[in-house]
Amino acid sequence: MYHTSLAAASDPIRAPRICDRLREAAGRAGVLVGAAIASEALADASYRDAVSRHFSVLQPENALKWAALRPSREVFDFSHADVILDTARANGQLVRGHVLAWHAYNPAWLRRSAFEPAELSRLAHEHIDTVVGRYADDIFAWDVVNEVVDETCRDGIRASMWYDRPGIGWAGHGARYADEMFRWARAAAPNARLFYNDDPSVTPERSGAIARAVGEWLDRGVPIDGLGLQLHLDLTTDRSRLCDAIAELATLGLELHITELDVALPIRSDGEARERGDLDRQATICYEVVRACLALPCCTLIQMWGVDDGHSWIPAFSRGALGAPLLLDRAFRPKPAYDALVAVLDIADAERRLSGDAT
Ligand code: GLA
Repeated sequence: MYHTSLAAASDPIRAPRICDRLREAAGRAGVLVGAAIASEALADASYRDAVSRHFSVLQPENALKWAALRPSREVFDFSHADVILDTARANGQLVRGHVLAWHAYNPAWLRRSAFEPAELSRLAHEHIDTVVGRYADDIFAWDVVNEVVDETCRDGIRASMWYDRPGIGWAGHGARYADEMFRWARAAAPNARLFYNDDPSVTPERSGAIARAVGEWLDRGVPIDGLGLQLHLDLTTDRSRLCDAIAELATLGLELHITELDVALPIRSDGEARERGDLDRQATICYEVVRACLALPCCTLIQMWGVDDGHSWIPAFSRGALGAPLLLDRAFRPKPAYDALVAVLDIADAERRLSGDAT
C-alpha cells in the first residue's frame, strides 16, 4: 500500500497541478519531500500554490496534536486536520500524521485534571483508536510518540503526563509506556508506518538515548517501523557529528524520515537573513545533512518544518533573533537551500540508479 501511494504521490499525471523542481527531483529519486503546514495559512493563495507545487507529502504542523483536536474531553475537532487532508487529496499528495503523545501542546483540561494512571491510559487508548482509526486509509505514517528521551533526566526519560505525571501506568519503567501507544496505533491502522520522532542533532547524548530507547522497543517486539529525525539546525550545528549520528541510527534497521528540517539564521528586524552569505551556508548545511541521509537506502522522506520563511515558528521562539530557516523566502521564491536540495536529490537519483544497475 505504501509503495503504491508513494508512486501516486510522485506521478505527475496523477498529481493535478504543475509540479516544481523539488517535487520532480524527489519523484525521480524515489523519495518523498514534505512540509509541515498550517490549515489557517491555506487561505493565502500564494501559500496554497507553494504547498501544491513543491511537496509530495503534507504534515499538519499542529492540527493533529491534542490541543487542536480535543477542545474538551467529550469533543474531537477534526476540522483543521480535514482541511489539510482535503488539500493533499486534491494535490495527489500523501499525509504524514503528527503526533499522538507528546509532553507539550496538550489542552489545559487534560494537563490540569487529576487522572489516575488507569483512567489516563483509557483516555490515551481512546484517543489513538479514534484519531488513527479515522484516518486509517489516508495517513500513511504516524509519529506515535515524540521526544520520549531526555538525557539530562535521572533515568534518561523525559518527565511528562504520559510517563510519570501521573503517567499511564508505567512510571519508573523507562520507555515502556510507549509500547502501549505503538500497539494501539498498529491495531487502529494496520497499514500505517509507525515512527518515533526526536532530534539527534541536540547533543551526542541525545542521539545515544534515542538509539537505546528504540533498541528497547525492538527487543520487546514493539511495532515500530521508523525513526523520525527532527533536525532543527542552525549555523553552529556540528554537521560532521550529526551525519555520523544519522549513519549510526540507521544501524537500528528502521526506515528513516527527516521530519522537521529547518536551519535558523540570524535575522534583521524585517525577518530577512542578516548576512547574504548565510543563505549559502544554510544551503551547504541542507546539502550535507540531506546527502548523509539519502546515502542510506532506509532514508525515504525529507520534510521541512514549514513552507516559507514567512510562516516559521523560529522568529517567535527565538524572540526575533533567528529566522529565515526554510527553502522558500517570504515571497515564496526558492532560496539557495532549495537548489541545494534539488541537487542532492538528483545525485541520490543517479546513485540509486547506478547501484540498481550494478546488482
Ligand atoms: C518539536 C515538535 C514539533 C514542533 C516543533 C517546533 O520539534 O515535534 O511538533 O512543535 O517542536 O515547535
